[in-house]
Amino acid sequence: MELAVRAAAPSCSSSPSLHPPRVPCRLGRSPGLPLPARRVALAAAAFALDPFQEIKTELNDASKTEVFACPVCYEPLIRTGPPGMNLPAIYRSGFKCSKCNKSFTSKDVFLDLTVTSGMKEYSELKPARTELFRSPLVSFLYERGWRQNFNRSGFPGRDEEFQMAQDYFQSVAGGILVDVSCGSGLFSRKFASSGAYSAVIALDFSENMLRQCYDYIKQEETPMNTNLALVRADISRLPFASCSIDAIHAGAAIHCWPSPSNAIAEISRVLKPGGVFVATTFLSTPTNSGPLSIDALRPLRQIVGPVNSSYNFFTEGELEDLCRSCGLINYSSKVQRSFIMFSGQKP
Ligand SMILES: C[S@@+](CC[C@H](N)C(=O)[O-])C[C@H]1O[C@@H](n2cnc3c(N)ncnc32)[C@H](O)[C@@H]1O
Repeated sequence: MELAVRAAAPSCSSSPSLHPPRVPCRLGRSPGLPLPARRVALAAAAFALDPFQEIKTELNDASKTEVFACPVCYEPLIRTGPPGMNLPAIYRSGFKCSKCNKSFTSKDVFLDLTVTSGMKEYSELKPARTELFRSPLVSFLYERGWRQNFNRSGFPGRDEEFQMAQDYFQSVAGGILVDVSCGSGLFSRKFASSGAYSAVIALDFSENMLRQCYDYIKQEETPMNTNLALVRADISRLPFASCSIDAIHAGAAIHCWPSPSNAIAEISRVLKPGGVFVATTFLSTPTNSGPLSIDALRPLRQIVGPVNSSYNFFTEGELEDLCRSCGLINYSSKVQRSFIMFSGQKP
């Protein structure tokens, strides 16, 4: 499959690249298991018996540091319970912010780190493009045909998109990866079972997508609960300390976010220096955005936007601008029809 590769703009490419030179070996395909993969394999038998049994293990480096932070004040959360970035440990733990005193616990199978977590009276509606994915039916259908439809717009498909993302993430292998807006976790599960990361956090706003992700985890043979966490959070209020995350993946999601600029600013805030952001989305075309995709008419989006609840599609120039204005450098992209995968790096 031919993809048009667009290199970073001259101003970025002239600055020293933080990416190491590309090596032919692709992550997840290497014949010998990398260390995190061996760790995953060692804990396999334990998960097969009971997904919520306590796994007493020294295997997970990520267990030593608490990456979760309060979504209200961004102070690191204090955990009471077993350490570790895996489903059983997180399910059995309570988290509390020492500054605002707000507590967070696991609901069903995921840890709810939204600002509204635990609220009894208040509720709010997000835009339709966010609310749509909270439906149980859409969550159920997502990996059963809905996502495969994206191929018609140029998306290469799960396996190839995963390998493309892995190539971008080579410089941050071994670190903590957050798959934001993970949906049913089609990529989170692959990142986790690749063994290339010390921990993978599958994060979404939709409770039903996270439940669906958990159902798939239970069905898969590899016990990804050894390094995979399920977290509910809003992309505009990421529950991580600043400069704490190595890699962030956002598959087919930007067009669904209420405020892409707030979201990319958050992503930039939580990435460590050298951390890598990789995202895919649909580029704006006359077919998916109507006349408002024409350059001269794009300012009209400000006027009709409030009554138009459909997805937010962008031009490549807008995406690059967004990354730059949020402080990300080394922008590069791959384009195939209206599919784009792009990447930026925290300096
Ligand atoms: C089209 S799905 C993408 C799923 C998956 N990443 C993929 O590559 O197919 C978009 C996801 O964005 C999530 N989403 C929408 N608004 C969000 C928000 N404010 N915060 C976090 N996730 C959000 C939805 O719940 C949905 O799961």
